[in-house]
Amino acid sequence: MGHTDNSVLVDAPLSLVWEVTNDVAGWPELFSEYASAEVLSEVDGTTTFRLALHPDEQGRTWSWVSERTPDPATRTVRARRVETGVFEFMEIYWEYHEVAGGVLMRWVQDFRMKSDAPLDDEAMTERLNRNTVTQMGLIKERIEAAAGQPAADLGLAGKKVLVTGGTRGVGRGIVGMLARAGADVLTCYRQQDEEAASLERELKQTAGTHHVVRADLADATEIERLVDECEVRFGTLDAVVNNAGVISHVPYRELPVEEWRRVLEVNLTASHLVTQYALPLLSRGSSIIYIGSKVAEVGVPLRAHYTAAKAGLVGLALSLSKELGPKGIRVNVVAPGVIETEAMRKLPQDTRDQLRARYRDKTALGRLGEPQEVGGAVLFLASPLSSYITGEVLHVGGGIS
Ligand SMILES: NC(=O)c1ccc[n+]([C@@H]2O[C@H](COP(=O)([O-])OP(=O)(O)OC[C@H]3O[C@@H](n4cnc5c(N)ncnc54)[C@H](OP(=O)(O)O)[C@@H]3O)[C@@H](O)[C@H]2O)c1
Repeated sequence: MGHTDNSVLVDAPLSLVWEVTNDVAGWPELFSEYASAEVLSEVDGTTTFRLALHPDEQGRTWSWVSERTPDPATRTVRARRVETGVFEFMEIYWEYHEVAGGVLMRWVQDFRMKSDAPLDDEAMTERLNRNTVTQMGLIKERIEAAAGQPAADLGLAGKKVLVTGGTRGVGRGIVGMLARAGADVLTCYRQQDEEAASLERELKQTAGTHHVVRADLADATEIERLVDECEVRFGTLDAVVNNAGVISHVPYRELPVEEWRRVLEVNLTASHLVTQYALPLLSRGSSIIYIGSKVAEVGVPLRAHYTAAKAGLVGLALSLSKELGPKGIRVNVVAPGVIETEAMRKLPQDTRDQLRARYRDKTALGRLGEPQEVGGAVLFLASPLSSYITGEVLHVGGGIS
């Protein structure tokens, strides 16, 4: 079976994103791929419509009928192709979440190709993933232009920020939020070049001066080089966000000391070294932020090493807040609960569904968090809005118990 799962953050009010994306008749102005969209019927909240693509290279015009049922109460939409064409079936689920930077719109497509279709499930998945990213980018651009909203002024314009591990997951959400708020961001990664390249492309579309560099934080000389790079590119730093982290799940009795060291090295020692090396670049008004974890407070089986490292960050932040406070440098921890990142989206569908169901019950808000929601807390702690806040742990856990 084919499956895609893509999201885009649209910096606009939920009502506008909902209204524009559910106005099927207006889709030719919203998507670049549709030549026309004709509404055939609207019955009991379900719209049936015919979509036609622009003619392909051979002059053929593909067209099909779909139906779509939006649920404004849950801000979700279920849609499916009625005329399935090359698909045995094609179902699309849309969801909209209001997050710190706007609205996170997610599309999940499940389908199966017919056996005589020109593409198999895998090839169609790849094609849909490519096209979805393009279309989501356009939709974002168009809705944001319609909203005409300049990013809220948080006092971060032109501020220089180092974020470790910004190419994926939580770090990527943080980098995006900071860049959109006007900060200049330098971030690093260890090995995922593809993610780094796509982040670079994304940051090129965002105003400001941003850099994505490779640096293995398990190596002190590379940390030194990373901070040197900040000095060369920016001269000084206004905020340092220690986000990069690694995790593993190992029964404590079997935990090899090498694994203990690896997890402490990246989560704790690297955060300490990044901070220590960056200190000469920081001055009054600067902010140091550690991305900790809710588990540091409550514990969790199989992650004694990770929990110890995250608890260590709290101690580091508390002591540094006292030592650096007189210099006007603030030090805080952001402690996420469970955040839905690409890593989770790569899990098998039933595992993800189980996780989502579990956290629907365990959190007051009834859902997992989004990377941008951790970004919102980081923005606040990096900005002058939090100028009297230091030595604190700010939980971003949706009221997790
Ligand atoms: N996701 C959650 O639910 C959650 C919950 C609580 C706390 N957190 C914390 O949030 C932070 C980010 O987690 P995540 O889930 O977003 O992780 P992730 O998806 O695995 O991303 C980790 C990022 O850190 C980078 N990184 C890892 N090791 C590195 C190293 N040795 N040198 C340089 N960069 C390195 C990765 O680069 P490469 O791609 O090149 O490896 C990647 O950009 C971590 O500190 C984590 O403990 C996450």
